[in-house]
Amino acid sequence: MTNTELEQTLLAILADGAEHSERELVERLPAEPAALTEAARALRDLGLEPRALPDGGYRLAEPLELLDRKRIAAGLSNDARARLSRLEVYPLLDSTNAYLLAGAAEEWPGGAVCLAERQTAGRGRQGRSWVSPFGAGLFASLLWRFDGQPAALSGLSLAIGIAVARTLRALGVAEVGLKWPNDILWRERKLGGILLESGSSAGALHVVAGIGLNVALPRQEALAIDQPWVDLREILGAEGVSRNRLAALLINELVEILGRFEQGGFAGLAGEWARFDLSVGRRVRLRLPNAAVTGIVRGVDASGALLLESTDGRVNAYLGGEIGLRIEP
Ligand code: BTN
Repeated sequence: MTNTELEQTLLAILADGAEHSERELVERLPAEPAALTEAARALRDLGLEPRALPDGGYRLAEPLELLDRKRIAAGLSNDARARLSRLEVYPLLDSTNAYLLAGAAEEWPGGAVCLAERQTAGRGRQGRSWVSPFGAGLFASLLWRFDGQPAALSGLSLAIGIAVARTLRALGVAEVGLKWPNDILWRERKLGGILLESGSSAGALHVVAGIGLNVALPRQEALAIDQPWVDLREILGAEGVSRNRLAALLINELVEILGRFEQGGFAGLAGEWARFDLSVGRRVRLRLPNAAVTGIVRGVDASGALLLESTDGRVNAYLGGEIGLRIEP
């Protein structure tokens, strides 16, 4: 067994959160005690904290449902199975978006999905980083290829937001809402985010849609988040949610919505957006690349552009990934 396999086997045993003696572990892995110590150290490098027991064994502070490719695959719809070209799960990546963008450059077909237990360089919108501790969230990306010009992609990030919101609602998060263009909120606290990164290869457009959801963030790590936030553990209670189920449902919804987007763009989804939209009718401040404007949100148009009514009553449309929106109290 390689060191990585040893670490993964140890992690799978410890994931139940129970105490495991050294005797049990060396027998089950199987490994010499020195190799066990080494594997436990490697888990610390992943950001986990296996506690050493007096008898040389270990336990994790809390049980952890590890991402399991087979369980995720078993929860996929027929449609998702037909459209997915890969489904990969990693303990550690720098960024799932960066991983799939590199794949796109190597001409991987569309429909590639990857998930990571932890990201060391998780990317957020507007150059921010995304807090991604081991097992504490859902960090997932999907590569999709499109025919046509970049303009055909307008509204795509809102469509992805709808897919995420549907998933969360299906799991019991009744008050999930969307803040244009694609923040996932619960009672005005950030539950998740979406980062779309696009490029072209062999003359065709590709998009990597990255989704980050807070599942059970350790308080210490969450100190790095500079806005009100929430996680699914707080919303749904200690039992929380199965991340494997969450991943499968999310992939199913993404594939469904991308199919619809391919047929008719955002226009056919605008009505559903309105049901999740938290900013409509609210006074907001938009941060544009070189200016800021305030006004009342009047919804979105058929391309997903934000309609903002200024004090003189005129309504302007704003479209673009580099715009930040703050709902005024
Ligand atoms: C935001 O700032 O609101 C967007 C956050 C997007 C985070 C996700 S986590 C999975 C994927 N990989 C990344 O590096 N970022 C996205």
